[in-house]
Order: sequence, then structure tokens, then C-alpha cells
Amino acid sequence: MSLLLNRNQFGNPENKGKLLTREEAMQLFKDWVLNPKLQMHMLQVAHLMKCWAKEKENLDDNGIWAWELSGLLHDADWDQWPELHCKKIIEHLEELQIDPDVMHAIASHGPNHFGVEPINKMDKMLFAFDELSGLIHAYSLMRPNGYEGMDVKGVKKRLKEKSFAANVSREEIQDAVDRAGILLDDLIAFIIPRQSQVTA
Ligand SMILES: [Fe+2]
Ligand SMILES: [Fe+2]
Repeated sequence: MSLLLNRNQFGNPENKGKLLTREEAMQLFKDWVLNPKLQMHMLQVAHLMKCWAKEKENLDDNGIWAWELSGLLHDADWDQWPELHCKKIIEHLEELQIDPDVMHAIASHGPNHFGVEPINKMDKMLFAFDELSGLIHAYSLMRPNGYEGMDVKGVKKRLKEKSFAANVSREEIQDAVDRAGILLDDLIAFIIPRQSQVTA
């Protein structure tokens, strides 16, 4: 299901740096997202965004939280209003006068679906993590020991199997990784140990 957003400007630049508090964000998350599987996906992507911002981007605490928040809310409207994904959450964040960068990252997490191109690093990493995270999690669920002992080779094997997580587009994964300017192997290696830290 896709909804073209038909715009590239979100929010007001004057709100740069303005974010929800963690409590406000978690309340929104709980109110809007009722499906535990989707909750898990969003928490995983949020954690990966936080780790990347902290480890690779040298951001201050507010900057790191902006990345985490984008991950935490990117699918917030998917559960109850799939036909409005991701228009509804963006409009809500605009009303709350949140940093436009967060909205832009959310708006560009599916360029082929929403028609908004990822521009900055936060946009690109959200797109890349979103694509890969679910497939790696699906792989963990079919392994007897979950994430334990999982390696890049195993994930790449699953990627080559068309029938595995068939709804995850391999072309989109490659596109996302290329846009982020990272090697697929490196991104998988980054995700495995960090995503394993997120438990229900
Ligand atoms: Fe989404
Ligand atoms: Fe997602």
C-alpha cells in the first residue's frame, strides 16, 4: 500500500532541534501502535538508528535522540491507518511543531512508495535499516538460537533465497544500501549484534 505524499517540505525550519521527550514519544508509540510485531520492528529500527548516530556520526545527545525518534515513529500510523501511512504521523508531528528533519526522514523511508527521496544521512540510514532489519529478524526467528552465532554469510544466503521473507524487496535493499554508501556486508555486520539487544 502506498500513498504519494506529493510534497518535499515538511514542518517549519524554525523548529529545528525541537523533539518530543522520550516520555511523549513512548506515549504516542503506545497509543498508536497496538500490534506487538510492529512495535518490535519499530523498536529495533529505533535502536539501530540510535547506535549508528552514536557510533558513526559523532552527534550530541539531542542529535542522537532525533535519529532514534525517527526510527521509533517511522511506522507509527501503519497499524491503525495503513491507508494513511506515513501521511498521518507526519501531519501529527507538524502539529506538534517537531524538527522537520525527523519528518523528512519518516517521509523518505520508502522512496518508491511515498515519492520522497532520502537526502541526508539520517534519511538514508532509516531507509537502509528499515529494509534489512525485518529480514534479519525473520531469520533470527527461524534459527534455533535466534541471533546467537548468526553471521553475515547466513543473512546473505537468506537474501538469495527468493522464497524467504518474500515480501522484502531485494532490489529495495540494494537500492537503500547504495544510497547510504555502505557495503551490504558491513551493514549486516552492524545490525546483527545490535538488533539482538532489543528484546520484547
Ligand atoms: Fe513504513
Ligand atoms: Fe518500517
